[in-house]
Amino acid sequence: MCGIVGYWSETENAFDILLNSLKKLEYRGYDSFGFATLNNRDLMTERKVGKISDTQCERLPGNMGIGHTRWATHGKVNEINSHPHKDCSGKIAVVHNGIIENFKELRDYLEKTGHTLRSETDTEILAHLLEEGLKKGMSLKESVIRISNLVRGRNSFVALSSDTGEMIASRNGSPLILGITNGKEVFIASDIPAFLDKTKKVTYLDDGQICCIGEHLEFYDFKTGNQVQKRVIEIDWKAEEAELGDYKHFMLKEIMEQKETLISAMNQNKEHLIEVAKRINGAKGVFFIGCGTAARVCHIAEYVFSKVANKHINYITASEFENYEHFLLPETLVIAVSQSGETADVLDALNIAKRKGCKIISILNNPGSSMERISDYTFPINAGPEKAVASTKATTSQIAVVILLAYACIENIKEADRILLDLSGKVNDMLNPRYEAHIGYVAKQVYKNKDIFIIGRGINYPLAIESAIKLMEVSYIHAQGFAGGELKHGPIALIEKGTPVIALIAEDKTKEEILSNAMEVKSRGAIIIGVSPEKNEIFDYWIKTPKVDEVASVIANLIPIQLLSYNIGILRGYNVDYPRNLAKSVTVR
Ligand code: M6R
Repeated sequence: MCGIVGYWSETENAFDILLNSLKKLEYRGYDSFGFATLNNRDLMTERKVGKISDTQCERLPGNMGIGHTRWATHGKVNEINSHPHKDCSGKIAVVHNGIIENFKELRDYLEKTGHTLRSETDTEILAHLLEEGLKKGMSLKESVIRISNLVRGRNSFVALSSDTGEMIASRNGSPLILGITNGKEVFIASDIPAFLDKTKKVTYLDDGQICCIGEHLEFYDFKTGNQVQKRVIEIDWKAEEAELGDYKHFMLKEIMEQKETLISAMNQNKEHLIEVAKRINGAKGVFFIGCGTAARVCHIAEYVFSKVANKHINYITASEFENYEHFLLPETLVIAVSQSGETADVLDALNIAKRKGCKIISILNNPGSSMERISDYTFPINAGPEKAVASTKATTSQIAVVILLAYACIENIKEADRILLDLSGKVNDMLNPRYEAHIGYVAKQVYKNKDIFIIGRGINYPLAIESAIKLMEVSYIHAQGFAGGELKHGPIALIEKGTPVIALIAEDKTKEEILSNAMEVKSRGAIIIGVSPEKNEIFDYWIKTPKVDEVASVIANLIPIQLLSYNIGILRGYNVDYPRNLAKSVTVR
């Protein structure tokens, strides 16, 4: 949700670097973008509506600057609402990620005290509040500290002042990471890929901290005003992992990477698996929480734990978690599933759990994320940067870690390793050009339809819901997933001649019943796309999946659905990496 970049250099022109960095954060928001640079104490700005990669920019002079790509929250998508925002004097520019919850009262106050606000955004008040501080004789640092304590909600921002020639960042909620090189240049960004081609040495700004950016970096706790020391750590992501390479779209690249990422996901600290398994076995309640696709992984986890470990776990969509607060005890375990580790609803839920004294475990992709920092144990899924808005490789890696954890609960991690190794070999064989072409062919049969339904039973029921999310977000076709047995209780009324119904089938005890459910809709005119290891005469189209263990069938069945969604989105002419209205990391509630 919005991408922020900042750059300071002793000598270099900042603009080209900011532009390059911001393009890499486009997945965070792509409604509009903008830059501000400082050139000999002149503040220069440029703002445009649209996607940065599709738009021509004018190069601004100066050796330090900030940039922003917007996912609109307050105010329409237009140039006036684009960041950076400036104060009345035009000497302070601010880029911001988050939502200022007390925005209305602060805006009213500023207007009453004579400030002229030009945009509808909450961000603009930051620039005016900073201006007020400087007018009262504060330094920029003091003014940043003051307003960081004044605004409520999850807010991170970077301010640039032509009066003082300084750049200062403040973090509270949304991520900000510094990229450190040789002391001659400094990067700051909402996510590491923004500067991964320049440096792997990073410092994470923590919530409640500010950083004065320049030749010497200074960090302060904005609650106490005290200076703090920070560590520089080296991350082991490869720059090319965040690039398209030979692929046209990140989504396709990331689907194909599942040949390797399933193996990387298995690379877990065995001692941690065993310790967490003991906690799960001894817990008074286990809650898996996540949002969107990650919530579907939690739902799948319910089936995996039931089947493998004979254990009931609760899965809850993170935004609904507060309704279960009264069940939380210090012996309760809360397990967060997230690609970004920054999703606001999940963080809110984890804070509730923390207050109640619960232990927090997380299954995450993004190293150093906010969720990692509040977790007692983290299982990194090691999928590498996932840039397409639609989650693919992170999802299957999260499921792989869930399988490992469930088997750890019955002290049989070896069996999980066997299942996952078998699966990854078969996925490797499956993802060949002939297979891709066949899925392209099936996509051609259905891409003009207005609805697609997906059915599954058992562990393939939550997968049906996830399949609908994938299809909807990249093809904009109305898609809905159901438990096979549910159709005849209502949704079957929507089936008419030619409605595509995808049946997700595993070689398990639900197979015969789901085939019967498919038959029920076929006899009412539906076109059946069977996703299964074995062909069946009722299928109009068959997408073959490998024969794997029952819990692994969700991964084997999901990958072709990801490919089908991708192909349908492309056939309909959409930009599958950046679906409309969405953003990769949802840092607002
Ligand atoms: O970063 P997270 O995994 O916490 O994100 C959660 C959801 O926003 C995310 O899974 C979303 O539903 C994806 N666009 C689905 O493809």
